Amino acid sequence: MTTARAALAEVAKPAPIALFDLQRQRARLERDIRRRMDAVLAHGQFILGPEVDELEKQLAAYTAVPHVIAVSSGRDALMIALMALDVKPGDAVFVPAFTFAATAGAVASIGAEPVFVDVDPATCNMDPADLERAIAETKAAGRAIPRVVMPVDLYGLPADYPAIDAIAARENLVVLADAAQSFGGALGNCRAGALAPVSATSFYPTKPLGCYGDGGAILTTDDAIADRVRMIRSHGRAGTGDEAMVLGLTGRLDTIQAAVLIAKLAAFDDELERRRAIAARYAAAFAGLAVTPQTIPDGYRSAFALYTVRVAGRDGVRARLAEKGVGSGLFYRLALHQHPAFAAFVGRALPVSEMLTLEVLSLPMHPDLTDDEVDRVIEAVGAAI
Ligand SMILES: Cc1ncc(COP(=O)(O)O)c(C=O)c1O
Repeated sequence: MTTARAALAEVAKPAPIALFDLQRQRARLERDIRRRMDAVLAHGQFILGPEVDELEKQLAAYTAVPHVIAVSSGRDALMIALMALDVKPGDAVFVPAFTFAATAGAVASIGAEPVFVDVDPATCNMDPADLERAIAETKAAGRAIPRVVMPVDLYGLPADYPAIDAIAARENLVVLADAAQSFGGALGNCRAGALAPVSATSFYPTKPLGCYGDGGAILTTDDAIADRVRMIRSHGRAGTGDEAMVLGLTGRLDTIQAAVLIAKLAAFDDELERRRAIAARYAAAFAGLAVTPQTIPDGYRSAFALYTVRVAGRDGVRARLAEKGVGSGLFYRLALHQHPAFAAFVGRALPVSEMLTLEVLSLPMHPDLTDDEVDRVIEAVGAAI
C-alpha cells in the first residue's frame, strides 16, 4: 500500500526542469540537421568543406562583419586572435576577473600575462573605472606592456564597449571581444561580433548558437588580421599550400559542425525572441523578491545564454530549487584569480568578482521552455528564498 502510494506520488511529481535542454531543440530541427549532415557524409569534404564557407558567409551577413572565420572552439578563437594580433610573452592582456577560465587561459597559453579587472555589480561585465586602474598599475609595475583589452559579454550581455573603446584608444590598446556567450546580442544596431575590431565567439552546444561538438569563430573588420587568422587555423599555411608561413594550429571548424550550425541559424532569431520573452517574465516576477537580476542597460540586447540572478544564501536557495526539480547552475563559483591555474597572476583587489561568486545563480533558460515551466521556476524561486 505504502509502496503503491509512493509510486503514485512519483508519477504525480512534475518532470524536472533542466537548466538547458538540447533534446527538445534537436527534435524541433532534426529533419534539416540530418539532411545537411547527410550531405556532408555524401560529399566527404570533412575539413573546410563547402558548408564551412557557406556558414562563414551567412554569419558575415548576419553580423555585418566582413570577415568571419570558423574555428575549432571559442577558446581556440581567442588564442588564434591573440596570435594574429602578435601578442607575445611580455605583453599584458586585460580580462574581467569574473568569467569562464578560458578567457584568461587563452592569454596565458600563448605566454602573455592576463591582468584581472573587476566587474560592475549591475551588469557583471568589465568595470571601465577598474580597467583604468589596472592599466596604470601595470604601467607602473613595468613587468608587462599593455597591449590588448579583452572584455567579456557575460551571460550574453555585451560589455560597455563605448567606455572601453575610449580607454583603449587613449592607451593604444586593441579591443578583442570575448563574445563567446553573446552571439545574438546587440548594442544599438550593432550585433555582438561587430562591437570590436576583433571578436571571438563559441558554438559550444549550450551556447545560444551551438553545434554538436566544439566550435567557434573569429569575426573581424581587418583584412590583414583575417588573413593571418586563416593561416593560423590551418597549420600556418597560406591557402592550400604546404608551406607554413606562421606558427599555426589545427584550429578549423569541422564541416559536419558547420552543417549543424547552418540549420540552427535558420531558427536562431525565433529562438532569441523566445529567450527574451522568458527573460522578461523572469524579470517581472523577480522585481518584488529578494533577487537581483543582471541589469540590461538601455540600448543593449542580451542573447541570454544564461539567465543569472543574485541571491543572498544562494547555496540554500539552490538546494531548495533542486528539491522541487528545478535545475540551476553556478557561473561562476570561482573568479579567475581563485583558480590554481592562474595563481601566478594574482595581485589586485577584486571585491565585486569575489562577491558575485557567492551570490550568482543561473536559472533554466533555453528557447524550448514552456510557459508552464517558466511559471514553475518563478514559483519555486519565490518559495525558496
Ligand atoms: C566567456 C567564455 N569565453 C570562452 C569560452 C570558451 O569557449 P569554448 O568552450 O567553445 O572553448 C567560453 C565557453 O565555454 C566562455 O563562456
